[in-house]
Amino acid sequence: MAVKIKTLSGYFHEYQKSIVNPEQFWQQQAEDFFWRKKCDCVLDWDFEEPRIEWFKGGKLNITENIFERQLFTRKNQAAIIWEPNNPEDDGVTLTYTQLFEKVKQFANVLLQNNIKKGDRVALYMPMIPELVIAMLACARIGAIHSIVFAGFSSNALADRIIDAQAKLVIASDGAFRGKKSIPIKSVVDEALKKCDSVEKVIVKKRTGEAIQMKEGRDFWWDEICEGVSTENEAEVMDAEDPLFILYTSGSTDKPKGVVHTTGGYMVYTSYTFRNVFQYSEGDVYFCSADIGWVTGHSYIVYGPLLSGATSLMFEGIPTWPDAGRFWDIVEKHKVNQFYTAPTAIRALMAEGNQFVENKVLKSLKVLGTVGEPINEEAWHWYHDHVGKNRCPIVDTWWQTETGGILISPMAGITPTKPSYATLPLPGIQPIIVDPEGNELKGNSVEGNLCIKFPWPGMTRTLYGDHKRFRQTYFSTYNGYYFTGDGVKRDEDGYYRILGRVDDVINVSGHRMGTAEVENAINEHPRVVESAVVGYPHDIKGQGIFAFAVCNDVDESTSLEGIIQSIKIGVNNIIGPIARPDKILIVSDLPKTRSGKIMRRILRKIASGDYSNFGDTSTLLDPGVVEEIIEKSKL
Ligand code: PRX
Repeated sequence: MAVKIKTLSGYFHEYQKSIVNPEQFWQQQAEDFFWRKKCDCVLDWDFEEPRIEWFKGGKLNITENIFERQLFTRKNQAAIIWEPNNPEDDGVTLTYTQLFEKVKQFANVLLQNNIKKGDRVALYMPMIPELVIAMLACARIGAIHSIVFAGFSSNALADRIIDAQAKLVIASDGAFRGKKSIPIKSVVDEALKKCDSVEKVIVKKRTGEAIQMKEGRDFWWDEICEGVSTENEAEVMDAEDPLFILYTSGSTDKPKGVVHTTGGYMVYTSYTFRNVFQYSEGDVYFCSADIGWVTGHSYIVYGPLLSGATSLMFEGIPTWPDAGRFWDIVEKHKVNQFYTAPTAIRALMAEGNQFVENKVLKSLKVLGTVGEPINEEAWHWYHDHVGKNRCPIVDTWWQTETGGILISPMAGITPTKPSYATLPLPGIQPIIVDPEGNELKGNSVEGNLCIKFPWPGMTRTLYGDHKRFRQTYFSTYNGYYFTGDGVKRDEDGYYRILGRVDDVINVSGHRMGTAEVENAINEHPRVVESAVVGYPHDIKGQGIFAFAVCNDVDESTSLEGIIQSIKIGVNNIIGPIARPDKILIVSDLPKTRSGKIMRRILRKIASGDYSNFGDTSTLLDPGVVEEIIEKSKL
C-alpha cells in the first residue's frame, strides 16, 4: 500500500527509493488502485523514439477508481461542492453517490448518441457541475475528452475540434462571469460552420439566454438525459489508452494536442495530490483554476476525486462582487487547502488588504500556487495576509505536458523559500543543461530544465503528430525531455523556475505562443508583418507587446484606430487572453542580414530597457532600432 510522506526524512527516503528502483516505486503506488488486470510491465521507454509506456498490459477504468473503488466508504461524502458565480444563488453539493449516478446516466446518453470508445468529444463549457459529469462520462465509456477553455474564440474552438475530429460537442447556452453573461452556444454555432466531424451538440441551460437550436443536431442536456438509465458498466481500458487531449500553445502557431493516457495519469495525479497538499480525510480542497486548463483537469477533478477528496469548484471570478470573494468562499465552506495562480494573488493584493483582513480564514492549512513564477512580494502577501503566517505555501511547478506537479514542496514537510519550487517530487529526475546540452552538475548552477527519466503522468504524444512530439520535447537535448523553462539550482539544491526560454510567453499563468499571436495580428488587412514579445507586467506576470509594420501609414493615419482593430482581430481569432496589451506601429522590424527578427532587442525595448543591446553587428539597419526606441518612448 502506498504511503503518504509525513516528514522531510521520509521524503528523502522515498525520493531515493524512487530513483534507485522507479519501477518498483511506481508499482507500489499503483497498488492503491483497482485494476481489472494487473500490468505485465511497469515501464517501457525510450526518449529517442520517443516511446513511454507505463503499466503496459494493465486494464482499468479511471472512473471505477473514483467511484466503485471508493463508494463503500464515501457514499455520502461530498465529492464536488459547486460555488456559483453569484453568491446570492444556491450552490450544489454532489456526494460521491450522486455524482456517480449522474456520470453513469450521462455515459449512457453518450452511448445512445453513437459515441464509442476512442471517439473524441469536445467540451466547451463554463465551470458548472455538468462539465465534471461530462468529462467523467467520457472517461467511463472510453471516449477521449478535449476540453476547450470557454474564453477561446470560435476560430480557436474550430481549430481544436477539427484537429481532434470531435464527433460531439458539449456546451451550455451561456456563462456567467462576474456581472457579465457571455455567449457559449453561439460561439459553438460559429465554430461548427467549419467542422464537418461534429454530428451532435448537447447544451446545458445555464444563463437562459436565447440561442438557436439546430433541429437534429442540437439537444438540451436535461431533455436528452430524461428517463435514461443510471445503470452503466465501465468500459475496460488499456493503461495506455488515451484519456484526454488538451491543447496548449507552443512556439509555432498551431496549438498542440497534448495526449494523456489512463493508467499512469491516474497514479500520478493522485499520488501528487495527496502528498503535495497533504490532504487529510474530511478536508475541503479548493482549486480556483478553470477546468479548461490542465490544473483543473488534474487538481480539481482527477487527482482529488481519485484520492477521495472533497473538491470545491467555483464558477465565478476572484474580483466579483468584490476582491474578497475567494476569502468568502474559504470562510463559507471552511476550506482547508487553497490553490491558485500568482496572477490572482497579485490582482487581489493590488485591491488592498481590507478584502482579506476581516475574513475568518482559520480553516486554511495549506496554500498553493501554480502557473508562473511567483514574485517574492506576492509570496509574502499570500503567506502573511491569507495564510496568517501559519500555512505553508506550495509553489508547484509543472506543465500541461507533465500531467501533474513535478517540482514542489510537500506542504509542511519541505522547508519553503519564497519564489522557489524547491525540490523534485519522488520519481522526478530533473537536470540542468547548458545551451550545448551538457549537464550542469552540483549546486549554484543555472540553465535549461530537462527531465531525464519518465514519470507516469507525462504526455505520450501530440494528437496525430508524433513527429512534432519528438521534435518539440526530445530533439533539443538528446535523450532528455526538454521543458522549455530556464531554472536555477541554488546553494541548497533548491530549484527556482526562471520562466520560458522559448517563444512562449506566460500571460496571467496562461501559455501563449508568440507565433500564434503574430499570425492573428497578421490577418489584419493593414498589417504587413509583426513581432510579439513578453514584457514584465505587474498583475499578469507578463504582458503581450506587439510591434507591427503596417501599410499606407502617413501622418494623417489614425494609429489608434488601427491598434484597436488589431486588438479586436486577435480577440476574434484566438480570444481575449491573447489580446496584446501594447501595440506599437513601426516602419520596420530589427532584422539580421539573413532576415531573422532580433527579438532579443524587442524584448529589451518592450521592458523599457534601452541600454546595452549586446552584439548588434548582424543588424541589417541599426536605424530601425533607433526609430522603435523613439516611438516606444512617446
Ligand atoms: O513556464 C512554466 C510555467 O508555466 C508553464 C506551463 O504552462 P501550462 O502548460 O499552461 O501549465 C500551467 C499549469 C501547470 C511552465 O513551462 N509555470 C508553471 N508553474 C510554475 C511555472 N513557472 C514558475 N513557477 C511555477 N510554479
